[in-house]
Amino acid sequence: MNPPATPAHVAIIMDGNGRWARQRMMPRQAGHRAGVRAARAIVETCARRGIRHLTLFAFSSENWRRPQGEVGALMRLFLEALEREVDELHANGVQLRFIGERRELSAELQARMRSAEERTRANERLVLVIALAYGGRWDIGQAARQLAAEAAAGTLDPAAIDDATVAGRLALAGLPEPDLLIRTGGEHRLSNFLLWQLAYAELWFTDCLWPDFGEAELDRALARYAAVERRFGQTSEQLQPAAGEESC
Ligand code: FPP
Repeated sequence: MNPPATPAHVAIIMDGNGRWARQRMMPRQAGHRAGVRAARAIVETCARRGIRHLTLFAFSSENWRRPQGEVGALMRLFLEALEREVDELHANGVQLRFIGERRELSAELQARMRSAEERTRANERLVLVIALAYGGRWDIGQAARQLAAEAAAGTLDPAAIDDATVAGRLALAGLPEPDLLIRTGGEHRLSNFLLWQLAYAELWFTDCLWPDFGEAELDRALARYAAVERRFGQTSEQLQPAAGEESC
């Protein structure tokens, strides 16, 4: 049987802020500010569409290589956005979580992230995961270190390590894997995002630049997702309901 038409978890690579700004002869930072507005709107739309988990790639491990001025501006933007948005997210039942190598972030940002997580912990309408200083290889590496430490301590039998054991140590442990990955900005690659967790995700690439990505664009991705048959390695015939069985 095919899973429900609405994805339980959508993950988004928000690309194209810089080009959006350049097209308007504006500085890149203006593109990032517009990107935050687009992110805010998409969280609301996802909640209205009944999507229970949304993961946004806000800053990758590789983004540290950008010019210092841009990195600094992005960090300030994340701080401001957290300060401004947490009340409303909380009031709307959104639980905030962060994944990534937090130790690389400023103490002030880390403290604000922790406080937003603690404050919204009990919310259940939508889990919003923000990937900050995140890389898929970093994630697999940190899971491997945990497994190795447990094996060395004698609390884990290496022969018993399977997919679920690994997934349980990854940054999204406890959440369903993303069903749908959206990447804006015209590139067709994963850029080191959720490498393990996207193994069976449906992929949706659009040329739309992130600040322009709104409800109509999201609905196009969701319609495509609803129409596709997800086989998870099985055949199409295996997924068809047997003759006489209800299919609604
Ligand atoms: C991609 O555009 C965007 C980023 C590298 C990160 C910043 C993302 C935001 C500010 C959006 C929302 C943030 C939050 C807080 C959830 P780009 O600079 O790579 O664009 P380009 O490819 O056109 O240069």
